[in-house]
Amino acid sequence: MKRIGMLTSGGDCQALNAAMRGVVKSLTNSSEDVEIYGFLEGYKGLIYGNFQMLTGSDFSGILTKGGTILGSSRTPFKTIKDPDENGLDKVEAMKQNYYKLRLDVLVILGGNGTHKTANLLREEGLNVITLPKTIDNDLWGTDMTFGFQSAVNIATDCIDCIHTTAASHGRIFIVEVMGHKVGYLTLNAGMAGGADIILIPEIPYDINKIVEAIEKRHKNGSKFTIIAVAEGAISKEDAALSKKEYKKKLENSPYPSVSYEIADQIQKKTGQEVRVTVPGHTQRGGSPCPYDRVFASRLGAEAGELILKGEYGFMVGYRNREIVKVPLEDVAGKLKMLEPDASIIKEAKLLGISFGD
Ligand code: F6P
Repeated sequence: MKRIGMLTSGGDCQALNAAMRGVVKSLTNSSEDVEIYGFLEGYKGLIYGNFQMLTGSDFSGILTKGGTILGSSRTPFKTIKDPDENGLDKVEAMKQNYYKLRLDVLVILGGNGTHKTANLLREEGLNVITLPKTIDNDLWGTDMTFGFQSAVNIATDCIDCIHTTAASHGRIFIVEVMGHKVGYLTLNAGMAGGADIILIPEIPYDINKIVEAIEKRHKNGSKFTIIAVAEGAISKEDAALSKKEYKKKLENSPYPSVSYEIADQIQKKTGQEVRVTVPGHTQRGGSPCPYDRVFASRLGAEAGELILKGEYGFMVGYRNREIVKVPLEDVAGKLKMLEPDASIIKEAKLLGISFGD
């Protein structure tokens, strides 16, 4: 008999349900008896003992369903060791609930912050297996995270729609893409949508180079320009600031996000109209794309196998086209960023895409 706790933490994404279904299906297909405890709203559920007992049938019919049937929330790692407002030791509470339910393992689905807490629980002696979810694809130790491809599809659809109206009106359009501090989502959606300029955090931009690229297009007869801007894009000047100075600048900025600042600068320098579109959380919503359904199911199935073998302390990831187990201590606290000299960036530049550098 295996007693399994499961939770989804952090920002949701597509294919969380598909991944959990994969875990449960691979376990229920084995000869082992299983009991499943679903903790609600992420680590909160584990801290406060808020869970539901689930059976295989609760995971049926959810392969294509967006969101997470367990709910999610952000429980910041940096305050996880601080007592809650009633003085409760959160780490101790999670351990107690794990032991009270006599769990064999906790299956935790999440991104960067989630993995730091998952590793802490491992260090505290709990058996943990994690699965890499995030539309940002910024998790160290895996070439791919589920949610990413679905988000690329949505951001690409958005750029496609903007393309037709930009062409009709001969306007400059900015589409701001999510991705937190990394540019994978913007780069992929930007290339797929045929963006002319792509701005990502890993390559700080120079506004004059962006204007040059727009003017070059005009000279060549193109009346419109599409700019895909990562929400974490940063100018060369801002990249030279200390973390504290940059934070202060953002706090005092009159712009809701970097895209509006760039739009304003372009408008002033070129005299042309610029429109900003922010698809925002739509990028995390809706049904997972076929790639994510298959990918998350595979990761889930392999997680189930690890549980049956009693191998704990790993994230189930994907490297060099193979599903691999990555020690949690290697994953926690590391960000996977795009390398500015990555081959995909070189190829994008060969296609004539400007990175504003
Ligand atoms: O990490 C996923 C993500 O969607 C990022 O791309 C984005 O920066 C962030 O979460 C938004 O977080 P929230 O849902 O808390 O607004």
